[in-house]
Amino acid sequence: MQQITHDVLILGTGLAGLRAAVEICIQTKGKADIGIVSKVQIMRSHSVCAEGGTAAMMRPEEGDSLELHAWDTVKGADFLADQDTVDRFVKTSPDEIRLLEHWGVPWSRRDDGRIMQRPFGGHSFPRACMAADKTGFMEMQALYDTLVKYNNFKRYDECFVTAMLLEGGRFAGLTLFDAPTGEFYVLRGKALLFASGGLGNLYGFTTYSQTVTGDGQAIAYRAGLPLEDPEFLQFHPTGLVPSGILMTEGCRGEGGYLRNNKGDRFMEKYAPKMMELAPRDIVSRSEMTEILEGRGFPGPEGLDYINLDMTHLGADRINHRLPLIREVCMKFLGIDPITQPIPIRPVAHYSMGGIEADINGRTKVENIWAAGEVACHSMHGANRLGCNSTAECLVWGGITGGEISKFLSKGAVLSAMPEAKARDEESRVFDGLLKQSGTEKPALIRRELRTLMDKHAGVYRSGESMKEGLDKIAGLRQRFGKISIEDKSRTYNTNLIQALETENMLELAEVLLFAGLARQESRGGHSRTDFAKRDDEKYLAHSMVYSTGGKPRLEYKPVTITNWKPVERKY
Ligand code: FUM
Repeated sequence: MQQITHDVLILGTGLAGLRAAVEICIQTKGKADIGIVSKVQIMRSHSVCAEGGTAAMMRPEEGDSLELHAWDTVKGADFLADQDTVDRFVKTSPDEIRLLEHWGVPWSRRDDGRIMQRPFGGHSFPRACMAADKTGFMEMQALYDTLVKYNNFKRYDECFVTAMLLEGGRFAGLTLFDAPTGEFYVLRGKALLFASGGLGNLYGFTTYSQTVTGDGQAIAYRAGLPLEDPEFLQFHPTGLVPSGILMTEGCRGEGGYLRNNKGDRFMEKYAPKMMELAPRDIVSRSEMTEILEGRGFPGPEGLDYINLDMTHLGADRINHRLPLIREVCMKFLGIDPITQPIPIRPVAHYSMGGIEADINGRTKVENIWAAGEVACHSMHGANRLGCNSTAECLVWGGITGGEISKFLSKGAVLSAMPEAKARDEESRVFDGLLKQSGTEKPALIRRELRTLMDKHAGVYRSGESMKEGLDKIAGLRQRFGKISIEDKSRTYNTNLIQALETENMLELAEVLLFAGLARQESRGGHSRTDFAKRDDEKYLAHSMVYSTGGKPRLEYKPVTITNWKPVERKY
């Protein structure tokens, strides 16, 4: 089997992956040989969809502080964040904003020429640095432009990684299906960075691109790395009904209201101080309560909704600060938010959990790092604050890029090549999965999975419902064993890729519900109707889920508390 070797492999080309690649280029003066792998083309990574902003403490002279940003993040996280990690994050993110300024991001500006920052949920100071409502796209463009000044990297676009190979407890290689050519080969590296993003397509109603299927988490998990805090899935309060497209929190940051079918700004009842700008877990629960108690609007496909009302903001503000939102509303629904309210409801948006990584982004395997949404550095705990995610991608892209550069400079070596494992993997995919002729269709299994996750792992959960969800997943996994892939060719076989994605999604859905069922409390994004209170005695701890080949194994790991003991969250 063909093998190609680089010094370092980066799996994923969103903000974290590109930022890490740039850092490695800078620190090694363009000497390290980098392989950058993505199942899409670089600028189609989901990070381009980030809208509202990137958090950083930029205005100490106006009353903001690093301590306040850290406190907001820890309290927003329902005290499950590791406080040393949060501390490092808030200290580093302002530098990332300045770096991106130098690399060309066209930040929105105040009249005095300084970078504009708008309010975001759970932040007690306006901290979202923004490029109107196209922040992720602009950041990606600037990072890509910076990266192409170097020529020490090779792109593997539209390449689907099927497995991670370890040898002697170290990373040895990635097996990869090159979609355009149909070739299967092994990429080898002295180090690997996972930067492959989230898993939000486990849900039917989601803000994520169709490509976001948790492949990085799944291959890491299967190879033995633990997934941390997978039960904490964030629902963003404002997903456009019925498509799920993100209506940025910037809409509320700019002054938009949430109204029920009586026209009331109901957040008054739930978070009288912060109102619509309370943290996402609280706003999403409030919306669902309004809907469940009959104060929503009837929507299509059972998607009852709430109104996001910006009609008082005026055309100028909407056109300048939220042009994408207006365009999407007009194109997808034929409504103009300048004069009409937008139908929204909570939507799957972000995974707080991921591959366990330490404060330097290093995983349990010495030559593997993880950054961005695929990772869990325990920085968001049970609920992430808006605009802390693009910032986290940049911060840990930079940190892991630096750490990997140091690792390479100390004479890192390649692990031995596990030839037999690579051949077995090729045979599993092409002799097994592709050739088998069962009666089940992967696309139907995927659709049923996403529907069941909406139902059994939503904003509110219960033990009974999660247990039922797990049973259904077990049924789907059995059916997956009997699938048939219609397209039997090797070239551009999107049927095959979607089947491999579905296999990953089934695994991760089980992990999410397994950890959720075990956590008998409500905390942040994990809100149980049968255990409605937070239980710090038993569950002030990170879930760590390990693959066993059968039922997952669960352990708990203590939370690092340096400054703030848990208190009741009030907003
Ligand atoms: O609402 C938004 O623009 C999303 C931001 C985020 O998830 O951080």
